[in-house]
Amino acid sequence: MQRKVTKAVFPVAGLGTRFLPATKSIPKEIMTLVDRPLIQYAIDEARAAGITEFIFVTSRGKSALEDYFDLAPELEAALHSKGKTEMLEMLRDTNMESGAIAHIRQHKALGLGHAVWCARRLIGNEPFAVILTDDVIAAETPCLQQMVEAYEETGGNMVAAMEVAPEKASSYGVLDVAEDLGSLVKVRGMVEKPSAEEAPSNLAVIGRYILTPKVLDNLNNMKAGAGGEIQLTDAIAQEIGGDDGVYGLRFRGQRFDCGSKAGFLQATVAFGLSRPDLSEEFSTYLNELVSSQKAAQ
Ligand code: UTP
Repeated sequence: MQRKVTKAVFPVAGLGTRFLPATKSIPKEIMTLVDRPLIQYAIDEARAAGITEFIFVTSRGKSALEDYFDLAPELEAALHSKGKTEMLEMLRDTNMESGAIAHIRQHKALGLGHAVWCARRLIGNEPFAVILTDDVIAAETPCLQQMVEAYEETGGNMVAAMEVAPEKASSYGVLDVAEDLGSLVKVRGMVEKPSAEEAPSNLAVIGRYILTPKVLDNLNNMKAGAGGEIQLTDAIAQEIGGDDGVYGLRFRGQRFDCGSKAGFLQATVAFGLSRPDLSEEFSTYLNELVSSQKAAQ
């Protein structure tokens, strides 16, 4: 029997070196797009998909992330006394029901696969989602919800897939497609960071997964894969051709790579422009900036 996906793992134990020096003292996941930290976007997406248990795989220096989901009684009392109900409402999204959130340590950054493996006892014997907070996705129907809906049809393991230009393939894991079913594809293989010539398709894997507990067994048995790290992709690839199989979902939405500086800036502009309270002022500024740059050329 198919089980509902109620648990999500958020691996947030990476070093975040691409954002040094900021990440020397601020967890990357706390960096803000407009006024909300990356982690809030990920949590909102998970909630929309029906997730009720949130498992964070953390490391040293991530206490700001743990504090973020706590109640803030002094702040709330101050807002209350000033009648700032809108702000109180906004803070409500940052609160977690007691027992809904768990933090587990990854003592060494041994890769994404290892980070997920660290959560194995909390996941138990059920399907689970993995969300990489670096990938922020603007979508009418949140990406994980699209995946959960597709998973309810197919079962199996599922990765979010995005079309990329051949010259970009080398930044991603790329799907080798056995069967194209429309928005879903059945996967025959996954090639990590292929050159444009070697890429088996234009479908790149991004940071959303729904996985069966067998992937945890595979991680258990795995030796260090590419780059000395334990790769999640390798553990998923072992399920290709198995009973459950692996599917890719061409999700509807725009993904921003907020783990890179350029992607973070692009997301900031896109989310800034999409905010009713900011769009007019911000778009006027951007238009003026572009015009003055054109005039200077
Ligand atoms: P990245 O490859 O982006 O690494 O990890 P990073 O450390 O976050 O960032 P850079 O490359 O040094 O700038 C992808 C995701 O996997 C998590 C990260 O926290 C991030 O969410 N991760 C990675 C872990 O939790 N543990 C690891 O050992 C590696």
